[in-house]
Order: sequence, then structure tokens, then C-alpha cells
Amino acid sequence: MAMKFPSEPFKIKVVEPIRTTTREERSRLIQQAGFNIFNLPAESVYVDLLTDSGTAAMSDQQWAGIMLGDESYAGSRNYHHFEKTIQEIFGYKHVIPTHQGRMAENLLFSACVRPGDIVPNNTHFDTTRANVEFYRAQALDLPVVAARTPSLPHPFKGNMDLEKLAALLQEKGREKIPLVLMTITNNSVGGQPVSLENIRAVRDLCRLHQIPLFFDAARFAENAFFIQEREPGYRNVPIPEIVREIFSLGDGCTMSAKKDGLVNIGGFVALNDDSLAEEITHMLILVEGFPTYGGMAGRDLEAISIGLREVLDENYLSFRISQVRYLGDQLDQAGVPIIKPVGGHAVFLDASAFLPHIPPDLFPGQALVVALYKDYGIRGVEIGSLMFGRKDPLTGRDLPAPNELVRLAIPRRVYTNMHISYVAESVIDLFSRASSLKGLQIVHEAKRLRHFTARLCEVGP
Ligand code: F0G
Repeated sequence: MAMKFPSEPFKIKVVEPIRTTTREERSRLIQQAGFNIFNLPAESVYVDLLTDSGTAAMSDQQWAGIMLGDESYAGSRNYHHFEKTIQEIFGYKHVIPTHQGRMAENLLFSACVRPGDIVPNNTHFDTTRANVEFYRAQALDLPVVAARTPSLPHPFKGNMDLEKLAALLQEKGREKIPLVLMTITNNSVGGQPVSLENIRAVRDLCRLHQIPLFFDAARFAENAFFIQEREPGYRNVPIPEIVREIFSLGDGCTMSAKKDGLVNIGGFVALNDDSLAEEITHMLILVEGFPTYGGMAGRDLEAISIGLREVLDENYLSFRISQVRYLGDQLDQAGVPIIKPVGGHAVFLDASAFLPHIPPDLFPGQALVVALYKDYGIRGVEIGSLMFGRKDPLTGRDLPAPNELVRLAIPRRVYTNMHISYVAESVIDLFSRASSLKGLQIVHEAKRLRHFTARLCEVGP
């Protein structure tokens, strides 16, 4: 029987009630929040698609693991389980726990990035970019050209542009380039996967120039699933083997376990180089904690060890990817403009095509986000000129971002397909009356990362 829905490979043992709100209440709350969804009380949101990070539901096995937390300062048994699990899955020698992904990035860069260096990546996630820049180096994004066009299908739209990388490595060499990064999946261009062919080619270039290759592994299992689905020759290769092959091509990785670790907090750096590991560990003790807990509790380590095994289950992954795709397909069939193909963790709405009457300086993405909350209780996030717009240094006026997008990120194992259908119907309903939406103007903004705290007001189109 052909299923209309991807069916859930789990049943529900614990429930968290959601408070229902009225449109009037939400309308008042969004005004009080300065039309910024980061200022909303989460309790007033019906379906929260702000992020897939730290929002997963843990399994009964993980909760059982939480009860087995060994909270010893040094030598906790949970650390040994954590270390062994990561060594087996990723194949790296040293495992350094951190409280989340950005600390893993910071510690790695503290040991190898120097002022004036260049760090290439298929696309840096914001915290990765900020951490590279914190060490006064340049974070250079080298996505393939296809990644720039939302409507253009491509099986591995997350890939690195090999020609540009080759030219850069040739020109700057290992003196200026301390490492090459690959973000799998590529979050910032739509959760798009990277192919093994591309990773292998990047590895060859890195070898040629003797530059280490590191992965940002936040969504590594989703990436492996896409390789199994789309890359010639991998249809029958088990996910753990694909994962081993990916990481065998690099020298190490950073990971935010808040995504494919299926936990609410945690991360790590894993790598082979002894002296780099030693340097990172010294810094870890200074800013995070002792090497056998690194900013986490013993129970957190246990939950990650179990989550990292569960995420490799093909039933889990197939449901996960299909649920996100199901939302994307519903929208696409109704003519709603989205990034295609649908990526691993989120559906991205193309707000400039959704609201062509709202110019970038009136923040079409934010207008869409506000309407989704006010009318349907759904929280997405703007990834456009509010988040990434920069000031023109000469005129002080806002320069628009390359794309005006809204990300609907799906938390793992949290929402049923009925919730997802509700989201699809809501977005389609909004699309049918999109021309009535108004743009927004900033009334207050911070100098950096303004989207988190900005206050806005509605303006007539
Ligand atoms: N790398 C990628 C690819 C990410 O998506 C994130 C976080 C991080 C690193 C940083 O990890 O949050 O544990 O410190 N992404 C979240 C998001 C916040 O909403 O996409 P962290």
C-alpha cells in the first residue's frame, strides 16, 4: 500500500501539553515582542519550527541512560562509553567533549587559526563564521553555483565549489590556510547534502597541499542518508558504513550533538592529531571543564552515546527525511515557492517570491514569519535581510541579503504528521492571501546580530 504519510517509527510514551491561544492573544503578544519572534514566550507557540537544534525528543533508552549518569569529576564511566561510541562511529582517535557545537569550533580554532588566515568551507554556519572571525581570520564560503538559485534542483546542492577551492589552495597554500572545513549537511544553503564524490575531491586537494580537512558534523547522519538515496553505488551500503567512509576522508570533526546527537545539549571535537588534541585539551580545561566531562554532566554524555546510535537507524532516518520532504512537497504542489530540493532538517520558503510586493528593505521574510505566528501559532525564522543585511559603510543604508528566506526547521521526533499537515495547510492558506501582508521597519537594533533583539513595526506596503 502506498502511504500518503511517512509513518512514525515510534509511539508516544510521554506527552507535553500545548496551550492553545487565540489570534487576538497572539496579535497582542507579537506586538509586545516588537514583531520579533525571538521575544515571544515559547508557551504561546503551537508548532515551534524556530530550530531543530536542542529541540529533539529523547527515546526511552536515552532517558534510561540519563538515570545511569556517573557524575564523578574525573573518569566517569559515561565518558568512556561516549569516547568508545564516537571512536567507533567516526573513526577518530581523540574525543573531546564540549557543551555544544560552537565551543567545539572555538576550541579547535584556538589551537590552529591565526590572525590573517583564511578558512574555506562549503558554507560556514553563523557560529562557525563568528568563531573564525573571532581569531581574526577570514571565513570564506565556497558553495557550488547551484546553491545560489532556490528553485534549481541538484542532488548535492551542499557541495563545495572544487575549482574555487583548488585555486585558493594553490594561491594561498598551507601558510595561510590552517584547515579546510566541510559542513554536512550544508545548513545555510537549505540543509543540502554533500556527496562522497565531492568530499573525496576536497580530500585530494587538501592532501596535495598538506592541509587538514575537518567536518562540521552537526547533521552527518542526514547527509549519509542522502548519499545512500542519491549517490550512485551507495543504495545498498548501510548508513554506518557510509558514515565511516565520510569521516575516513578527513582528519577530524566538530559536532553539535543538539542535532544528529538527538539530545538537548552537548557537542565534541574528534580528531587524530596528537599535538593538536593536546593543545585543545589544555584550553578545554581552562574554559569548559575536565577532559572527561567538558561542560556536560555524566548523564548528558550517556544520552549522546545512545542518541548517536539511534540516529543511524534507517527507519529513523527514512521517517525523518520523509517528514521534512512531505511538508516541502505539500507546499510545492500548491505552488508555494520553496528551496528545491527539500533539504534534511527544514523547509525554506522563498519570501521574495511569496511576497513580491514587499521589497527587501521592508523585510518580506520577517513579514511572513510574523503572519505565520499571528494567524496560525507557527514559529519559523527569517533568514534574509533582517538576519544578514549589512550596512553600506558610505551611506549607512541597509544592503539586502542575497536571498529572503524563511526557515521552517523540524525538531526530531517531536511533531506528528498531523502537526506537519497543519503547517502545510496554514502556509498554503497564507499564500492565497499573501498580497494583504504588510512590510516591517526596524525601530530599534543592536550593532551585531541584530535579528535576535531588533524591534520592528508594521508599515503600509
Ligand atoms: N554547525 C552547524 C551546521 C549548525 O547548524 C550549528 C547550529 C552549529 C554548528 C552550532 O552548534 O548551536 O550547538 O553551538 N545551528 C542551530 C540552528 C543553532 O538553528 O541551525 P551549537
